[in-house]
Amino acid sequence: MNTAVAQQARTADFVRLESVRKCYDSAPLGEVALAGVTLSLAEGSFTAVVGPAGSGKSSFLRCAAGLTRPTTGSVMLDGVKLGELDDAELTALRRERIGFLTADANLQPSLTVRQNVLLPLRLAGRDIAADAADKALEQVGVAELAHHRTEELTAAQRQRVALARALVVDPLVIFADEPVRDLDAAAAGDFLRLLRATGRTVVLTTADPGVAGQADETVHLDGGRIAAA
Ligand SMILES: Nc1ncnc2c1ncn2[C@@H]1O[C@H](COP(=O)(O)OP(=O)(O)O)[C@@H](O)[C@H]1O
Ligand SMILES: [Mg+2]
Repeated sequence: MNTAVAQQARTADFVRLESVRKCYDSAPLGEVALAGVTLSLAEGSFTAVVGPAGSGKSSFLRCAAGLTRPTTGSVMLDGVKLGELDDAELTALRRERIGFLTADANLQPSLTVRQNVLLPLRLAGRDIAADAADKALEQVGVAELAHHRTEELTAAQRQRVALARALVVDPLVIFADEPVRDLDAAAAGDFLRLLRATGRTVVLTTADPGVAGQADETVHLDGGRIAAA
């Protein structure tokens, strides 16, 4: 029973932020992007962080994903305290176990779709199974695009390729910063269903309450604080 309780306690805090404050060095003195955010997300949860422009959504996601360090406070992913990792360890964790999507998909135009998907494995120096790219592309429904150049793709296809690239490392968590911002409503709905179907722990941001409503949990940000729904 103790084991079960411990297991439950751990997975309920799969993503944990404690009193996270973020002030950028370049920001005007006293301007705070995150003003003390405390939050736990369970393993396998599908969460939308929603708020207007400037409310701190990207800062929240980048702190949670280890892309930037909080000014104060702590972030824990699957029991790993990011603040206790040095820069090299944090980079390795990010590359090897964290998926991060952006609105523009951020694909490398000089590479084919397949090469884009395999890039995280190459950067991590990992062995690459012959079918790794095909499996990931198949999972997001665009296997037929493997040999295409990224400029030939629609925005919706590009975002699917970015999701395949995130999945190829077997991520603990997928963080997605406004992943459907540039998609029409139908493509956005399709993409959110795909994200959910990965079965991963997903945290996305959006300024659109309609998109947020499709997640299981919603966190409202306002002025860098969690606000009541
Ligand atoms: N790299 C940065 N340097 C300085 N200020 C920043 C930076 N990124 C965000 N900010 C500021 O932090 C606040 C929150 O921004 P952000 O996290 O991007 O919110 P959102 O994603 O909700 O638009 C804003 O006031 C923004 O100007
Ligand atoms: Mg943003």
